Amino acid sequence: MNEVSTSSRELRSILIIGATGGIGAELAKRYARPGRTLVLWGRNAEKLKQLAATCCARGARVIPRQIDLTEGKAVLAAFNEDEAQAAFDLVILGAGLSDIKQATATTEDPDKVLKLALVNYAQPVTLATAAAKSMIPRGHGSIALIGSVAGFYELPFAPSYSSSKAGLACFAEAARLGWAEHNINVTLIVPGFVDTPMSQRLKGERPFLVTAGNAAQYIMRAIARQEAECIFPWQFKALRVIERLLPSFARKRILLALKADQD
Ligand SMILES: NC(=O)c1ccc[n+]([C@@H]2O[C@H](COP(=O)([O-])OP(=O)(O)OC[C@H]3O[C@@H](n4cnc5c(N)ncnc54)[C@H](OP(=O)(O)O)[C@@H]3O)[C@@H](O)[C@H]2O)c1
Repeated sequence: MNEVSTSSRELRSILIIGATGGIGAELAKRYARPGRTLVLWGRNAEKLKQLAATCCARGARVIPRQIDLTEGKAVLAAFNEDEAQAAFDLVILGAGLSDIKQATATTEDPDKVLKLALVNYAQPVTLATAAAKSMIPRGHGSIALIGSVAGFYELPFAPSYSSSKAGLACFAEAARLGWAEHNINVTLIVPGFVDTPMSQRLKGERPFLVTAGNAAQYIMRAIARQEAECIFPWQFKALRVIERLLPSFARKRILLALKADQD
């Protein structure tokens, strides 16, 4: 299966931010087809070149952009340039950085925290807003933000990552409410563990792991159905229900008992 299409409107133009990542590349390949423009953003020039060639071979018109999302306002200028050229029907905000406090450190590294805040939160909400602003006069558009189940938990070993994803979830909900009257759909994607370079850096178990291909299928289906939130795999939906029933002292104990480390 390449693409789930339950949405009546054709997606002629799609921007994927984080296209060079494990999930982003799968989305790009699956969305690539004749008659469609894909604007692909990533930092790694070689991966971007190879992905662009693959998507072109599948018939899409491809506009790649090598960009670093920590570069502040230049990123918004780049978005406006690409939007003027491609008039996006769908924008997927999927770039992300993860970080875990080293066991020997008292806190995360503040330099890394700043980068993470820009890539995971500040740029996605800025670009989602810019996308909605351009889409509203055209009368339609879809925006998907990739959060994480980590956003449901106050992870003591990853405060910046978990809070960046919690903030994104709050933004997605508020933006969905605010922009619905303009026919702009906002979908929050909430993956558990996906087998990509990001989770491959983690030491230890990755429960309920899904492939990047499966993740792309969940994401494309949720976007086509204009779902508000897409948590996958299902085990994390079940955990969400159970976890909400816990008293706060039990929740804190469990969070403090969790251990995580990365390469
Ligand atoms: N993998 C998981 O288990 C998992 C679970 C929950 C949520 N997520 C979320 O899913 C999204 C995609 O992650 P993934 O698993 O596909 O990870 P990935 O393979 O590590 O990809 C991360 C993507 O973010 C881009 N990126 C990172 N820093 C950037 C920067 N400063 N400027 C521009 N682009 C930057 C990377 O670009 P380059 O590769 O070109 O540097 C890459 O395209 C992220 O938002 C992540 O938080 C992942």
